[in-house]
Amino acid sequence: MEEIKSIQWFPGHMTKTKRKIESQLRLVDAVAVLLDARIPYSSCNPQLRSIINNKPRIIVLNKCDMADPAQTKKWLSLFREKNIAAIALDCKTGKGLNAFIPTVKNVLADRIESWNKKGMTGRTIKVMVVGIPNVGKSSFINRMSKQNRAKVEDRPGVTRGNQWFTIGKGFDLLDTPGVLWPKFDDPIVGEKLAYIGSVKDDILDTEQLAGRLLEYLRDNFPGPLCARYKLDSQEIIPMQGYEILELVGRKRGMLVSGGEINTERAAAAVLDEFRNASLGKLTIDRAEDYPDVRV
Ligand code: G4P
Repeated sequence: MEEIKSIQWFPGHMTKTKRKIESQLRLVDAVAVLLDARIPYSSCNPQLRSIINNKPRIIVLNKCDMADPAQTKKWLSLFREKNIAAIALDCKTGKGLNAFIPTVKNVLADRIESWNKKGMTGRTIKVMVVGIPNVGKSSFINRMSKQNRAKVEDRPGVTRGNQWFTIGKGFDLLDTPGVLWPKFDDPIVGEKLAYIGSVKDDILDTEQLAGRLLEYLRDNFPGPLCARYKLDSQEIIPMQGYEILELVGRKRGMLVSGGEINTERAAAAVLDEFRNASLGKLTIDRAEDYPDVRV
């Protein structure tokens, strides 16, 4: 994981983004914080809470189609216990999206009432959408605006200009001004982001990463791992990640001439299959491990 830690995008990039977000905050009534439902803690920018300060916020656990439903429920309860509005949805099928506008209105109920009293009935509600690269901001905005106006990029960290989108009568969304990097200085967080594919693979050694992921799955999700790759849970206990990777390659018949195992191909398969939830809906930040989470 040295590769991840050694990349110095902090603090220069963040300083710029922080300033941009802060300068746009006065234009919005609330902030929708998009988190990846598989890693709600690790997909949150560590400075976000101080940046958005006391603006009303709504947590959106996106990609819940790939997360463990029981864990998603626990995460929602955890946020709600702290009086933070939270919803879970997925932009793949659109499930849960209908709850967004009513939740925002609920969070802003007092404000809306005071607008109404002042005769500002029907004032446009403006919400800034923030989240780390690849969490699904463009997909969310696309889905909400039901038009293909937000460009969905497949490269993490694509810089965008300020963009407003109307998602319904009297309701506008503002895309994150700047790039909100995740908490890369914590190696465990960096690994989890790499597992789910939030870090460009071309800056990583994929065999090393797949090996680490296999060890992680062996220690945390042995059932789904062994079922997927027909592994013996006892046999892999003493193994290094690379050895498990070789075993996966052999089981899959991924060989190169001379009978050697094509570990590069095996690594790509393991990473792909984990990322598209072929091993099952796995949440890797468990709610019970982050009782003090704050956003
Ligand atoms: P960003 O603006 O925050 O950077 O994220 P973006 O919307 O570009 O989404 C990043 C990737 O995540 C995209 O996949 C997108 O399709 C996928 N995605 C977004 N929301 C969901 C969700 O709720 N569930 C699932 N399963 N996937 C989601 P991609 O592979 O980069 O592109 P493509 O598959 O759309 O071509």
